[in-house]
Amino acid sequence: MCLPQETAIIIPAMMTAKQGLLGSLTPATFLRRHWQKCPLFVRNAIPDCGAWLQPETLFELAARDDVESRLVIHTRNRWTLQHGPFSRAQLRRLPDRGWTLLVQGVEQHQHEAADLLQRFSFIPHARLDDLMVSYAPPGGGVGPHFDSYDVFLLQGAGTRRWRISAQKNLDVIERAPLRILKHFHHTQEWVAERGDLLYLPPRYAHDGVARDACMTLSVGFRAPRKQELAAQFLEYLQDELQLPGLYEDSDLTLQKHPAELSSATLDKISHILKDIRWSARDIHQFSGRYLTEPKAQTVFRPLRRPATLPAFVRQVATRGIRLALPTRMLFRGSDVFINGENHPLNAENRAALIQLANRRVARPFTPAVATARLLYAWYCAGYLEI
Ligand code: SIN
Ligand code: CO
Repeated sequence: MCLPQETAIIIPAMMTAKQGLLGSLTPATFLRRHWQKCPLFVRNAIPDCGAWLQPETLFELAARDDVESRLVIHTRNRWTLQHGPFSRAQLRRLPDRGWTLLVQGVEQHQHEAADLLQRFSFIPHARLDDLMVSYAPPGGGVGPHFDSYDVFLLQGAGTRRWRISAQKNLDVIERAPLRILKHFHHTQEWVAERGDLLYLPPRYAHDGVARDACMTLSVGFRAPRKQELAAQFLEYLQDELQLPGLYEDSDLTLQKHPAELSSATLDKISHILKDIRWSARDIHQFSGRYLTEPKAQTVFRPLRRPATLPAFVRQVATRGIRLALPTRMLFRGSDVFINGENHPLNAENRAALIQLANRRVARPFTPAVATARLLYAWYCAGYLEI
């Protein structure tokens, strides 16, 4: 449950000078008090946040067709939404005020962004979605809205005024190209400066407006819709299901109306369908594959001239390995999941592979033959780097 007045706790800068991302809160306290429950605002949570990302770099990403980008423009009472890619010339023609460029999946292109996400490892990787970065000139914003996922909004360059509201009315303007709340009555407000963090649980109303040219980094956590999860699971099951035999009716009796669908037929179909079952193993396999499935835009480029297997193994033993930026990797028991595939987790190299999944890097180690072959296949496919 949220605090009685449903207000965000504010952790001031002085208190956080020597503290971490969550101010004075430990991750366990954060999870207990705030996660999916209650907002949190922390001053200077990440000093120099986003200093590694210049607007120019973001504009270059927005020009790529393998990167998802959107442009929101607000003029008087009208909102428009366009999908990228956007050329530099297109962006140059935009007005001085009132627009926002949003770029998804920045962690797939910038090592610093991937490192930033690692700081949120107190939330399981299975829940992590991506790092979205926005750029807005003064007055830019995406309007008062709510998101369906948990998000940490980190201020990079410039300043942004955040207003949030504990309101229960989440009606949105009909026929608008993006979800803008019909009514928004803020209950709290801050001007975020570089390094400040605002955590919002799903469906918490908020509105961020750039005070000057500013960049905001959003660490988003996915929460798939139950309907989507079920549909994906049924698709998985369709491939795994083994129901041998044919529909049989050697007991068929004469029907009065040949066009009538008889109860006997429905009983037989019902019997066959009752054999559709799944096990804990199916849930385990499906979840690992589904949660590591690359995003639609993600492209893995197999290496054109990979090192030979023996040379690769030498590198693993002397330099270690790291996951390629777009790779998603999880493990459970004796299975390892990577980019929608599952493989056995070799007991001999278990610690190294778990380190690779947790930290995205593994220190030098000597792979057993089976592990060496598996890692080499991942390396050739572009899933990992030396
Ligand atoms: C933004 O970065 O402009 C929008 C982030 C959000 O409100 O979720
Ligand atoms: Co939002």
